[in-house]
Amino acid sequence: MTAISLDTPLARHAGIEVPVICGAMYPCSNPELVAAVSEAGGIGIIQPISLTYVHGHAFREGIRFIKRLTTKPIGMNALIEQSSRSYHERMTRWIDIALEEGVRFFVTSLGNPRWVVDRVSQVGGVVYHDVTERKWAEKGLAGGVQGLIAVNRRAGGHAGAKSAEELITELGGLGVPIVAAGGIGDAEEFLGVLRMGYAGAQLGTRFIATTECRASEAYKRAILEADEDDIVLSERITGVPVAVIRTPYIEKMGLKAGPVARWMLRHRRTKHLMRTAYALRSLWQLKRASLDETGNKDYWQAGRSVGTIEKIEPAGEVVRRFREAVLSRR
Ligand SMILES: Cc1cc2nc3c(=O)[nH]c(=O)nc-3n(C[C@H](O)[C@H](O)[C@H](O)COP(=O)(O)O)c2cc1C
Repeated sequence: MTAISLDTPLARHAGIEVPVICGAMYPCSNPELVAAVSEAGGIGIIQPISLTYVHGHAFREGIRFIKRLTTKPIGMNALIEQSSRSYHERMTRWIDIALEEGVRFFVTSLGNPRWVVDRVSQVGGVVYHDVTERKWAEKGLAGGVQGLIAVNRRAGGHAGAKSAEELITELGGLGVPIVAAGGIGDAEEFLGVLRMGYAGAQLGTRFIATTECRASEAYKRAILEADEDDIVLSERITGVPVAVIRTPYIEKMGLKAGPVARWMLRHRRTKHLMRTAYALRSLWQLKRASLDETGNKDYWQAGRSVGTIEKIEPAGEVVRRFREAVLSRR
């Protein structure tokens, strides 16, 4: 069996003590949550649209607010799918501000990360890239990233199609650290991925059910109450499958995109238009649903880790428990 340790390549790259990432979450990444995970020895990742649009901070001020809560390393997520020029310009500005403010760990998703790597490596920073299969991993590595985050089929958000075991087999020989994302709700699951050879774990859902997360109490309770089998993939939110908790509202809406949307998503010329329409609508809907206490429109993203999440607790407690579990099992 592989010996496990906290001192993994991820921990060294990010300059952290516990190789745990609080993954970027639109709309759930609020500054207090990001800071709490970093302060406890993991690393919290800023989701720029969540920081600005949902939680109302100007980008630089938001980072400074986090830095008042913790002096430890924080990271930033850059969704770099080729879309509009104005989005690209905005993301470039956000990355430059983050670098000026001392952020040195970046997680890219989608697209070619080369331009992010070029900027970040000039000041000695590190870029990890979210992937769901080897094809994207090779593209990311060609773009110069130093690590990969393997998003498996149990993840919240846009889940992959493969298991954690399949992904470490497929990606483990590529010569860079691989981080597991998906399905990690308790310390045993964390130990499990370290034993498989992962350099750490990226968690989303577990950190929603924390005291620092600003998501509604109804959303947090739904995570505690849901079983793994209550997680379904819905295309109704962004046009591509997103993991959500099955609620009466989700059942009423159905899981598939409507026929017009499906047609538009299939055709090259209308695909981007449809994606943009979905993106704008989903930003608004997810923001409203995550903060709404009435539970009328329960549109709650979560992964299969709901099965092992049992209480709402401070985010730092989760990190500390994972740390202790490793130290006591070495
Ligand atoms: C509510 C929610 C929103 C998410 N939003 C993003 C996002 O904006 N960008 C991103 O790269 N990943 C996003 N993710 C994925 C997480 O960063 C992480 O990889 C995933 O949650 C890991 O799976 P887990 O939820 O089972 O722990 C999101 C996940 C959730 C649950």
